[in-house]
Amino acid sequence: MSAARILVVDDNESLRRGIALALGEAGHAVREAARGDEAVAQLRDPDAETPDVVVTDLRLPGVDGLGVLRAARERDAAMAVLLMTAFGSIETAVQAMREGAFDFLQKPVGLDQLELRVDRAIDHRRLLHEVTSLRAERSSRQASEKIIGRSPGLREAVDLARRAAPTRSTVLVTGETGTGKELVAGLVHALSPRAPGPFVKVNCAALPETLLESELFGHERGAFTGADRAREGRFEQADGGTLFLDEVGDMSPATQAKVLRVLQDQEFHRLGGTRTLRTDVRIVAATNHDLERAIAGGRFREDLYFRLAVIGIHLPPLRERSEDVPLLAERMLQEFARDLARTRSGFTRAALAKLRAHPWPGNVRELRNAVERAILMAEEPWIGPDDLCLETPPSAVAGEAAAGRAWDELGLDQLERVAVLAALHRSGFVQKRAAERLGISRRKLNYMIRRMGITHASWRRNRDEEDEPGDGPVAPLDSAADAG
Ligand SMILES: Nc1ncnc2c1ncn2[C@@H]1O[C@H](COP(=O)(O)OP(=O)(O)OP(=O)(O)O)[C@@H](O)[C@H]1O
Ligand SMILES: [Mg+2]
Repeated sequence: MSAARILVVDDNESLRRGIALALGEAGHAVREAARGDEAVAQLRDPDAETPDVVVTDLRLPGVDGLGVLRAARERDAAMAVLLMTAFGSIETAVQAMREGAFDFLQKPVGLDQLELRVDRAIDHRRLLHEVTSLRAERSSRQASEKIIGRSPGLREAVDLARRAAPTRSTVLVTGETGTGKELVAGLVHALSPRAPGPFVKVNCAALPETLLESELFGHERGAFTGADRAREGRFEQADGGTLFLDEVGDMSPATQAKVLRVLQDQEFHRLGGTRTLRTDVRIVAATNHDLERAIAGGRFREDLYFRLAVIGIHLPPLRERSEDVPLLAERMLQEFARDLARTRSGFTRAALAKLRAHPWPGNVRELRNAVERAILMAEEPWIGPDDLCLETPPSAVAGEAAAGRAWDELGLDQLERVAVLAALHRSGFVQKRAAERLGISRRKLNYMIRRMGITHASWRRNRDEEDEPGDGPVAPLDSAADAG
């Protein structure tokens, strides 16, 4: 049996002393309280050690046993509370159990019996603790596993995110488009004590000034034309959680001033409102602009920058961490192949070399698209360099001839196949939607699919419960001879 910290609460002194002595002899560290309010005060005292178990009488002077129970659960929801009740107070005992008491004992309490129950409470509490800490460990592991790469630049960014997470400090994530800024913002939230709270995202570049402000701060009814009802803003929604301000460099000066005020005072007004609202949010911001240059050019407030960049995390572009490319590509390959129910063994050595050499102007996002396309294209289980049609870097797009090369190397048949597969993939393999994307009839698409021998797991599944003939299974080619 293991030792625990136990608080014994009873106004009957001889009984309380007896219990305390017995539990003390059993090796526990026991404290006593003769009144309910005294016990509550101890439980609320931040400097006092948290008991593992509370043994309390139900009828007490000051505050009753239920009050002690509540204070205990406020301190630590896993604290085990045993209530002792006199004969006849079953109703209260039932209520106590409902409010989370671990057990109750009927008076007169036998000491052997009490020790047994206390042991059980200790075991229970230990189990609860293990479960919660395992759970927290698992969710933070899952969050970090989503981020792939072992280049020093990436590891440093992840490490910073990990160290920033438990604090309340504002974090500014910088990096080119597609480098994983949103992923890192999500990690900061997932590893923080706010993880059970909301993670709310606002894209500051996507909306014009007034709409962005109403998005952020909400508005009262009639605040502007069209505001026919009041609306909660993102700052309110993110209360107790994390607000992710994406593309923060694109905010207008007026909006910057308002956001700065919230950061300073944790207070704001809805548009058209006079009520002062308070919010408890942790801000993570991201930008792919060079904010220091924007400050020099007078487009970004320096004071806001310093508020945002308390902790700065920079994600290097993929071309500066080419050792991450094969890792990312392999992992994405596995994911896509699983989604598409296809078997893909991997990339050939030449394909990996081609991937590493590419400059990736669109970074990880571009790599993802390239891998997706390659899976759809490749006919062999191994993906070779020819299956990879990498987008020409923007500098070359200017010269039309160069831009065309990667694609016209494919030949028309291949191009057609890529177009069909890409449209199917993007429409979740719903043929009707894919046909709309491609601007052709569903009949024609269905014909092409058969000609190309494309199949998909979901089509086979639908065959049994077919209700929409053209959208389902792939029929033998001869029955479609009239299509197309
Ligand atoms: N290290 C990484 N490991 C796994 N996936 C990644 C990694 N970095 C980025 N990704 C993936 O790449 C895509 C782009 O990432 P994300 O949206 O976080 O980029 P971003 O920096 O916010 O880009 P933008 O500036 O264009 O908004 C996402 O699908 C993301 O899951
Ligand atoms: Mg982003």
